[in-house]
Amino acid sequence: MDIKNITILDKEFTLYLSKQQIEDKISEIAKELTTRLADKKPLFLCILNGSFMFAADIMKNVNIPAEISFIKLASYEGTSSTGKISELIGLNKDIKGRTVVIIEDIIDSGLTMQHLLETLKEKDPENIIVTSLLVKPDNLKVDLDIDYCAFSIPDKFIIGYGLDYNGYGRNYPNIYVIKE
Ligand code: IMP
Ligand code: MG
Repeated sequence: MDIKNITILDKEFTLYLSKQQIEDKISEIAKELTTRLADKKPLFLCILNGSFMFAADIMKNVNIPAEISFIKLASYEGTSSTGKISELIGLNKDIKGRTVVIIEDIIDSGLTMQHLLETLKEKDPENIIVTSLLVKPDNLKVDLDIDYCAFSIPDKFIIGYGLDYNGYGRNYPNIYVIKE
């Protein structure tokens, strides 16, 4: 049974996307990536911290030779984006000529992804594929090509399945939305 309501710090959240719904979408995306990247030996780039569960589930379902690396970028404080993106930490791989698949948890303003794409393009990869579990299309402040997105959601704060509220709530297998 899925837990319906949870409290994280001072806020209450209610079930929004179940583990099953998430798994179903991920297996569809993984299937498409498997077909598209069969002979590309792609490098998956998991954007920490939020994408650790999504990256694990994608990787388990992509049946091709593939590598994974982990990098860190942060732009959030509390429940709203600061707009300030901190430096890219931890890309210790040469991505020149490679197919890079970015695995992101959520695209909100899009500023984090825009910054990341600019930084990665300087390193001369063959192709960059953007995969985000969630997108808040109403909040996008920049033009982005998002190749794969499991769920488009309204401008509501969510947690679970890797996503946090001030560091908490990442551990749940479902996604929960804040109660108004
Ligand atoms: P952006 O730069 O505004 O697109 O922010 C992207 C980052 O903000 C994501 O990688 C998340 O870490 C965080 N974020 C955006 N919306 C939410 C949310 O609803 N819950 C938790 N984190 C979020
Ligand atoms: Mg993130």
